[in-house]
Amino acid sequence: MAGSGSLAEARARHADFAAQIEDHRFRYHVLDQPTISDGEYDKLMRALDALETDYPELRTPDSPTQKVGGAVSADLPAVPHLERMLSLANAMNFEELEAWHDRVVREIGTVPQYLCELKVDGLALALVYEHGRLVRGVTRGDGRVGEDVTQNVRAITGIPGQLTRSAEAEELGVGVPELVEVRGEVYFPSALFDEFNAHSQETEGRTYANPRNAAAGSLRQKDPRITAQRPLRMVVHGIGARKGFDVASQSHAYELLRAWGLPTSDRVKVVSSLDEVKQYIEYYGKHRHDVEHEIDGVVVKVDDFALQGRLGATSKDPRWAIAFKYPPEEVTTKLLDIKVQVGRTGRVTPYAVMSPVKVAGSTVAFATLHNKEIVVRKGVLIGDTVILRKAGDVIPEIVGPVVDLRDGTEREFVMPENCPDCGTPIAAQKEGDVDLRCPNARYCPGQIRERLAYLAGRTALDIEALGYEAATALTQPDGGEPPLRDEGDLFELTAEKLADVTMYQQARGKDAKEGDRELVPYFFTKPAPKKPSVPTKTTEQLIEQLEAAKTRDLWRFLVALSIRHVGPSAAREIARELRSLDRIGQASAEELASIEGVGPTIAASIVEWFAVDWHRGIVKRWLAAGVNPAVPADGGPRLLAGLTMVITGTLTGFSRDGAKEAAQAAGAKVSGSVSKKTSYVVVGENPGSKHDKAVELGVPVLDEAGFRTLLEQGPPPAPQPEEPQPEESQSEEPADGAV
Ligand code: IVH
Repeated sequence: MAGSGSLAEARARHADFAAQIEDHRFRYHVLDQPTISDGEYDKLMRALDALETDYPELRTPDSPTQKVGGAVSADLPAVPHLERMLSLANAMNFEELEAWHDRVVREIGTVPQYLCELKVDGLALALVYEHGRLVRGVTRGDGRVGEDVTQNVRAITGIPGQLTRSAEAEELGVGVPELVEVRGEVYFPSALFDEFNAHSQETEGRTYANPRNAAAGSLRQKDPRITAQRPLRMVVHGIGARKGFDVASQSHAYELLRAWGLPTSDRVKVVSSLDEVKQYIEYYGKHRHDVEHEIDGVVVKVDDFALQGRLGATSKDPRWAIAFKYPPEEVTTKLLDIKVQVGRTGRVTPYAVMSPVKVAGSTVAFATLHNKEIVVRKGVLIGDTVILRKAGDVIPEIVGPVVDLRDGTEREFVMPENCPDCGTPIAAQKEGDVDLRCPNARYCPGQIRERLAYLAGRTALDIEALGYEAATALTQPDGGEPPLRDEGDLFELTAEKLADVTMYQQARGKDAKEGDRELVPYFFTKPAPKKPSVPTKTTEQLIEQLEAAKTRDLWRFLVALSIRHVGPSAAREIARELRSLDRIGQASAEELASIEGVGPTIAASIVEWFAVDWHRGIVKRWLAAGVNPAVPADGGPRLLAGLTMVITGTLTGFSRDGAKEAAQAAGAKVSGSVSKKTSYVVVGENPGSKHDKAVELGVPVLDEAGFRTLLEQGPPPAPQPEEPQPEESQSEEPADGAV
């Protein structure tokens, strides 16, 4: 940037960035209502810092780069900290981490022991204990002066009002100290956030964008009784002022804090090389969501206090610590439009079309909005800047609008009255249903396309050559009649019938030798038909795979019929019991409901489905075309056969025995202890040490929702790297058929 403009220009740009940053700090720290994501804030800070590197005269003491972010609200009394609360410098990648490490090694002449811990996405708090009694709790504020939240802090579970005089602490050489200022992070447990937000919408008419804002809003209440109702927790990560005791290192300090009864983390690790630091970072990058609170990175600290002292600090960050930041999972983007799509059971769902943004490592441009009530509940308008969240492998979700950025041009979404594919008026199937459906199940080309794509999926007939693109090509008019009227025609497909479909012709063009290709005059609206006698490779693949699919297991055919509520788990049990499509079609609701894992809803849904003429026609045409479902003599392996599971903590939808039985009924072995051989650990509320053991051994951890998905769908198939995956596929109806 140097030389790209005059100092006057740089000064103007600097003032602009600084003002923006101060405004964002105020919104974040005081209002608990940020308008930009953390990632965007970091970018602004870096831009300001780069400007100051080019024009050092702009790096004045009151620049945001020289001050700890935050401010003090007028609503709560201000109190000075006994010792300044510093912030942390960031490393966005391994190169920046290495640069920090190199500097540390240069300064102290050796590779020190590093203490690695999680960067808790909460809000910083200092606790002052005098002679073991909690006398004050203060938010960070601007680092020198914070807000007095003592009464609220007393309401937080896990923060002792009195330090314990323990044998362990005596052993470490300290009983109860004369004075200690303990620093840490207050957080809102991730698992409780959604439920809290729904409640908060009802009672306060507002929601929080993320657990951090909920923690900040809850801690900074004027009435401590409100804080007391919130499930806040704390984890401590340092000591400030102290009198009457001495400690040699960060890890030693944690032992002491733990012995006094303060909430330290079990995930702290002391290591002796940068490689081990990187391994720790990589491990928690993968297990980010197995932790009970949100994390936005890892903090690496030089463990030894004497070395910390030698390294010192800048005006706002210690040189002995660095925060390695993970890619943000929340970003803001523009909501360009809300469109609707029809699903395989006719459900018409709105979805968001956004300016493509990178979030948690992938680019996202669409997100489902489920139904019109959710659009209203989320409060989003077309044209809004919205917060988009994509946590790990979870489907991207719009969290809500950034209301403060509206300019008046935004407009409300109006749910259309007709199906986007066939134009039929859409309606609720029965009174009180939120979902609107297109009733034209038989002829709606959209529904047929969706059913066909689902039928070919891994949880149904598993026909690789029949992806979404093929399902579209086979069911939509392409200058003539589509090759399939509906899925009933599927097994009668021939190369001749595919010859007129553009997709299969284009593929042939690619496969064919140059000389084979027929030139299509530009004025042809439809490509000239190819000779059907030379099927393309894609055509051949589809025909071959259809032939192979004819003898798939019976349960897969049952799933393939897109009967509401019938997912793989119920389908397996029904197939095991009834053993043919004919018998399933003739079974009464009572007979079906008596099968294990099949409730009255599923039973009624199956009976209802087979009562429809054209539905029975689908099965008839399949059988006539040579479909011959396989029925293994013993009914086939159960969905969770071969898995060993451990269930720990309290689940809300299952009793302890109920959860065990459900897993066993699906074929899993349920064990009482976690080992490397454990396939999954299901974790409920208050899980205890089995959860920690799972994280330590790298055993996958499931919450209750994950457990239900496992029971419905079985374990995910092993990754198949050669197969291109659509980057963000939108499954607006769960694959378990529970629609
Ligand atoms: S150490 C002098 N350790 O992150 C060292 N901070 O972005 C200062 N934070 O102000 C803090 N987890 O509020 C430390 N394990 C951790 C942390 C942590 C979260 C917060 C803290 C700090 C901010 C800096």
